[in-house]
Amino acid sequence: MDKEYQQYLNGLVEWGEKVKNKLQESSISEEEKLHAIQQVEIWQEDIYELLSKEEENLDYQRIQAIRLDGENIIQEIRRPQKKDSIPYGKHQLPELPYNYNALEPYISEEIMRLHHTKHHQAYVDGLNKAEEALYTEKKGKEPLKHWLREQAFHGSGHYLHTIFWFNMTPTSKKKPSGDILTQIKKDFGSWQNFKGLFTEVANSVEGDGWAALLWSPRSGKLAIQSFEKHQLFQVPDTIPLLVLDVWEHAYYLQHKNDRASYINNWWNVVDWDNVNDRFSKARHVKWDLY
Ligand SMILES: [Fe+2]
Repeated sequence: MDKEYQQYLNGLVEWGEKVKNKLQESSISEEEKLHAIQQVEIWQEDIYELLSKEEENLDYQRIQAIRLDGENIIQEIRRPQKKDSIPYGKHQLPELPYNYNALEPYISEEIMRLHHTKHHQAYVDGLNKAEEALYTEKKGKEPLKHWLREQAFHGSGHYLHTIFWFNMTPTSKKKPSGDILTQIKKDFGSWQNFKGLFTEVANSVEGDGWAALLWSPRSGKLAIQSFEKHQLFQVPDTIPLLVLDVWEHAYYLQHKNDRASYINNWWNVVDWDNVNDRFSKARHVKWDLY
């Protein structure tokens, strides 16, 4: 075998050793660690086998393939572990993608902290309890209808708040751009028309609820809708892109009963990149149009 190739392959083996040491020190779970180390060892064995054959005509492509295998293993290890489901009753409060004081002066730290750690947490707990009663051995004494009501209320609360947190950012561009702007103009005429109607809808909510910008795969259009509480006034088969919490807990400490000023302030923290991201994913859903 060409000496250069031999050296290169030996270098790859050494690199594999370093990766294994790094894995040992990493904070991933023992199970993931073991699996990742095993992948690297299998790859190293392939290299040893090549080295032992001492083939005369070992070509560059073969070496390249081995190197690419190694890179793929690394990529797989680095990829954040994505579960494909949450077991019933095991929902968790998502981490905020910014600090509690990051949205000031538009939304105060005190509100964000309470809203996230107390209110949203209560919806997560409520949904978990309802799912345990509905789908696991921990059956409650209450009738089925009670738990279905609980699942609708807390489930809608958990999912809507999760969208809400990621719909906001301290570095808002303050107005939409890209595909969502194109669609807003197509369906509502202009960004100002849309903003006006969305604001009006948010102000119109009786008691506690939400305003939402929805994508409707069934009509290929955007829609604006208010929700009462979290779960009433919903439009099935649509996908929320942008939601605004107008429950009193979202603004009372800062704006008292002046919901309109809370809504006006909120427009300054909308994360339009997140809305665009949700829109591009939502548009992959293709229903027949009716
Ligand atoms: Fe809320």
